[in-house]
Amino acid sequence: MNQNLDLATLPTSLKAGNSWHDRFSQWLERLYASPKLYSFSLTNPFTRWVTRRRTQKLFDLMAGFVHTQVMLGCIRLNLFKMLHQAPADLKQIAQRVNMPEPVLQRLLLSAVSLGLLEYRSQSRFGLGPLGVPLATHDGIAAMIEHNHLLYADMQDPLGFLSNAWQGSMAAYWPYAHDAQAATRAAQDKFSRYSDLMAASQGFVVEEILSTYFFGEHQCVLDVGAGKGRFACDMAAHAPHLQVKLFDLPPVLELAKNNVQQRGMSDRMSFYPGSFLHDELPKGADLVTLVRVAHDHPDDVVKQLLQKIHAALPLGGVLLLAEPMAQTLSESYSGPTQSDAYFHFYLLAMGAGRLRTPEEIMHLMAEAGFGQIEHLPNAMPIHAQLIVGRKSKCLP
Ligand SMILES: C[S@@+](CC[C@H](N)C(=O)[O-])C[C@H]1O[C@@H](n2cnc3c(N)ncnc32)[C@H](O)[C@@H]1O
Repeated sequence: MNQNLDLATLPTSLKAGNSWHDRFSQWLERLYASPKLYSFSLTNPFTRWVTRRRTQKLFDLMAGFVHTQVMLGCIRLNLFKMLHQAPADLKQIAQRVNMPEPVLQRLLLSAVSLGLLEYRSQSRFGLGPLGVPLATHDGIAAMIEHNHLLYADMQDPLGFLSNAWQGSMAAYWPYAHDAQAATRAAQDKFSRYSDLMAASQGFVVEEILSTYFFGEHQCVLDVGAGKGRFACDMAAHAPHLQVKLFDLPPVLELAKNNVQQRGMSDRMSFYPGSFLHDELPKGADLVTLVRVAHDHPDDVVKQLLQKIHAALPLGGVLLLAEPMAQTLSESYSGPTQSDAYFHFYLLAMGAGRLRTPEEIMHLMAEAGFGQIEHLPNAMPIHAQLIVGRKSKCLP
């Protein structure tokens, strides 16, 4: 089986030939390829760090799989939570995790070299700067554990590219490859991915609530609401809001339980359905679309954005938040490796893709939105935010 993929739009400046940037890149490429310059740069204390840093980065790319497996091994042994309670030495840790000291030591030393753990006094190990979030945020550990599905699918990268939807990641996301798969899937599949999404949503919610001002709105419709974590956090953050939740019926059943547990049932209403086949409920003056568009191909996103536009009153707002691809201007200050992760994750998942903010803004404009703005937020790796408004002018 294979599916058609949407082509990303390349920035227009890349299409024009022979730009100054091309000439500069070619010059740099020649420098990088020169063995003489390589040797010279290592003997010169002013340039040595540049060459060392480039070599280290390349080494890290080569070793990436080992790094992620070290992290997964530590998570599976519960080391981060254990050492967060109190640092411990090799013998104590070996007894607790029931592993021979010589092999465990390899894992601990590797984790130290990656900044996950660090040495403490009396030969003990404690948490390193990168280990602290892993001990305190269960959502990160859940994503790292979940990634083993992706890495298993990607063992043969070229085979994966031509057969991406055959793997275990595609089976994990029942709605993402074809519309019917969602209705055939068992409830436990919806529950599994919804739990993962709720666990990993905290960082995204933080970005949205600290960036967007909800004061002008009365009622919000969260499309693809999952278990309702964002809806509840938003309702707690802005107590004047009423919230409507829209998602596939099995997912909304999970959301109802969650909302009830958080004691927010009186401010929430539930609209089970599929945005592929059903209209969206009216009555909200803000629609939020959090980590939904990137799961779907362009034709589905266009249809969804049109439905959102139709459901909003004049002057209503769409707020879209999800991880986005690096733009051309950002790429000049160095590549971001998070794009590669999302390109492959979304490919393995189904038919979606990572889009640049410009691509999303273009799709929103096509659906009829105006005053489209890319809101600057503190931690774009978690999500970037774009808002657009339905014009108050009569058509
Ligand atoms: C990646 S999850 C994001 C959930 C939540 N917004 C978050 O950020 O954690 C995408 C959500 O879109 C929902 N979804 C996918 N296809 C849908 C469809 N056709 N109609 C309604 N919801 C859909 C999924 O059930 C899922 O809850």
